Amino acid sequence: MAEAAIKKIGILTGGGDCPDLNAVIRAAVKTAIIQYGWKVIGIEDGFEGLLKEGKTRPLLYDYVKGLLSRGGTILGSSNRGNPFEYKFREGGKIVTEDRSSVLMDNLRSQEIDALVVIGGDGTLSIALRLSKMGVRVVGVPKTIDNDLAATDVTFGFDTAINTATEAIDKIRTTGESHHRVMIVEVMGRYTGWIALQAGIASGGDIILIPEIPFNMDKICEVINERIKSGRNATIIVVAEGAKPDGGDVSVRMVVEDSHDPIRLGGIGDMVAHEISLKTNLETRVTVLGHIQRGGIPSAFDRILATRLGVSAVDLLAAGGYGKMVCLHATHIEAVAIEDAVSQLKKIPPDGEVVKAAQSIGVSFGK
Ligand code: F6P
Repeated sequence: MAEAAIKKIGILTGGGDCPDLNAVIRAAVKTAIIQYGWKVIGIEDGFEGLLKEGKTRPLLYDYVKGLLSRGGTILGSSNRGNPFEYKFREGGKIVTEDRSSVLMDNLRSQEIDALVVIGGDGTLSIALRLSKMGVRVVGVPKTIDNDLAATDVTFGFDTAINTATEAIDKIRTTGESHHRVMIVEVMGRYTGWIALQAGIASGGDIILIPEIPFNMDKICEVINERIKSGRNATIIVVAEGAKPDGGDVSVRMVVEDSHDPIRLGGIGDMVAHEISLKTNLETRVTVLGHIQRGGIPSAFDRILATRLGVSAVDLLAAGGYGKMVCLHATHIEAVAIEDAVSQLKKIPPDGEVVKAAQSIGVSFGK
């Protein structure tokens, strides 16, 4: 039997937010309405919105006006709400239940024919499972961390590195006034893309990334060498996932009911403590945190997000279910979600960008 034509699609954003989720929503809504005459339903708080009452609403053309420059997501987002392993508290304990049938019923009752799912690993893994159950779904990858192997760049990353660069520029001036070692801890999970790019862009002296485990003695040696040659301030940009040679990552907290429960953080303080002990130099730490996820998206991110939103809807119309749009070189392409999720894109330690930084005197603490 021929598949029924798509008349109404649902859009949701899942996982940690990032700049320009709204631009993807705007582009997808406009394309669905203008090009295909489809209706669009906005689903609130990721997949949670399909598991609870009253968490969907029509997205009309006029509702997505003025969204290009707005950070966050108008639909809300959540790291929770995995329909296949729905976690909730009962009698002080966390209980897990499969609620995928609730989600399927909801799709049917709201006559949602297909889904555009905007998210990272966790959200796209759920999209993949739904696709295997026959739901017509396409994915749009997002993360400020830029750590997905299936796409050259993720939208949100450019804005995040601009925010981090501006912050480090400011921290440099106070560090120079006081002849201090200034440590800036940035996000990025288990990869160092934000640290590397923002570190280079802001002229960081030492950049610590997970892909190149560091040595504390080496870091102190670099700082002392700088002082000997009259450079009394040192800027260290450290990725939250960086770790000492032979050591492990620093864990800030564990979010038990999240798809990926580990939250990294604290490595900046650890490095600062060691430097103070070994060199007696005044050291200060700034953790940039969620400031990197907010704010006005860069022009690059607005354009990339728009192209991805348009392509996601075109992909649905072309029957490319179970696929995800991505950027390869200068083109937007589609890859199977199955091949895309959970493949981490790491920085090659001997790659050209790391070498370029080393050539201009940047140390990676090794
Ligand atoms: O994946 C995006 C990200 O911002 C990471 O860089 C960071 O480790 C994590 O999310 C923080 O998560 P949360 O918002 O749950 O603290």
